[in-house]
Amino acid sequence: MTSEVRTAPNPYKVSCAGILRRSPTIQLPATSSTRWHLFPHFPQSVVQVDEQRMSRAFHHIPVLKEEVLATFRSVMPGVIVDATLGGAGHASALLAERNDLAVLGIDRDAIARAAASERLEPFGDRAHIVAGTFSTMADMVEASGSWINGRPIVGILMDLGVSSPQLDDETRGFSFRADAPLDMRMDMSDGPTAAEYIESVDLDTLRALLREHGEQKFANAIAKSILARQPKTTSELVVAVEAAVPMAARRRGHVATRAFQALRVAINEEDRELEEGLRSALAILAPEGVLAVIAYHSGEDRVVKEFLRTQSTGGCTCPVMLGCVCGATPTMSVSRGGAIVASENELDVNPRARSARMRVGRKVVA
Ligand SMILES: C[S@@+](CC[C@H](N)C(=O)[O-])C[C@H]1O[C@@H](n2cnc3c(N)ncnc32)[C@H](O)[C@@H]1O
Repeated sequence: MTSEVRTAPNPYKVSCAGILRRSPTIQLPATSSTRWHLFPHFPQSVVQVDEQRMSRAFHHIPVLKEEVLATFRSVMPGVIVDATLGGAGHASALLAERNDLAVLGIDRDAIARAAASERLEPFGDRAHIVAGTFSTMADMVEASGSWINGRPIVGILMDLGVSSPQLDDETRGFSFRADAPLDMRMDMSDGPTAAEYIESVDLDTLRALLREHGEQKFANAIAKSILARQPKTTSELVVAVEAAVPMAARRRGHVATRAFQALRVAINEEDRELEEGLRSALAILAPEGVLAVIAYHSGEDRVVKEFLRTQSTGGCTCPVMLGCVCGATPTMSVSRGGAIVASENELDVNPRARSARMRVGRKVVA
């Protein structure tokens, strides 16, 4: 295999631990695996990291942007951890609005980190990007100690799920809209692909996963059909689902939507990530710090709601009529009014915001 080295024209100025460190040039070995990991949606002949091409390739409209800005407006000067950096839409808006804030950005997707790196370049050392999963947020904060330099973690944003570029990338297998290998990993360097997962999963587990994601009636039939057909591509998965659901029983939307979501959640261990990420966030947040979580399906919104409820009651289950007699201590306060959702104006420009639910908690001073 050739290991010819080409020099990319765009120096990544933002510090980016884990993939590309501050460097005047980026050296990309021209191997197919490098191209695949960094830019799988580009033709094999394209090796250069072209700035314009990258911006075009990563187009994600940050959801509830105004509401996120309003949420963090009250925080003290310090560091915001953007635990789902994506293309840095929220992060760049926060940095532009408040010059007394810095952002530690985390993402498990190398393409997102590269795009964010480019977008955050104008903010210089006020942004620091780390590769990894947010379940280990506390470790990443510790490892970034010299950049944080004693500043408090005054806010944490978790904008869950996948970004538009991940969904729209025709090579990554997240969507039934394009035929692609059944991959679905946010971090393409780690863990089994969805096709590999299907090779090893048993019927009970797959059926339970589909049920959890809304396939009440046909979970068993879909699971059996998937295991029998062993799909290797998105279109083969669609065929497997279609074969199990009678035409008359199909609801609004694409018949395979829930199966795709269920597999994506399993492949990326999104349930465990969320549970551990929320605990990790609470542990690193400074007193009075704000946690904002945007969820896109009812299952994950329920987890966030329950977490905030438990933290705001301290786990107290005493009858309301009697008042608390168990001595539970709340760790967060939650504003009344439930979840924040997108305005009609936002939905007009970004229909993907329709399912977004943002919940906010503030760490209580001990
Ligand atoms: C909805 S997008 C975030 C978009 C971002 N707020 C913006 O304004 O561009 C979610 C991002 O979180 C990343 N992600 C999802 N789960 C993650 C996890 N457990 N750990 C780290 N990153 C994760 C995905 O790779 C994706 O880039």
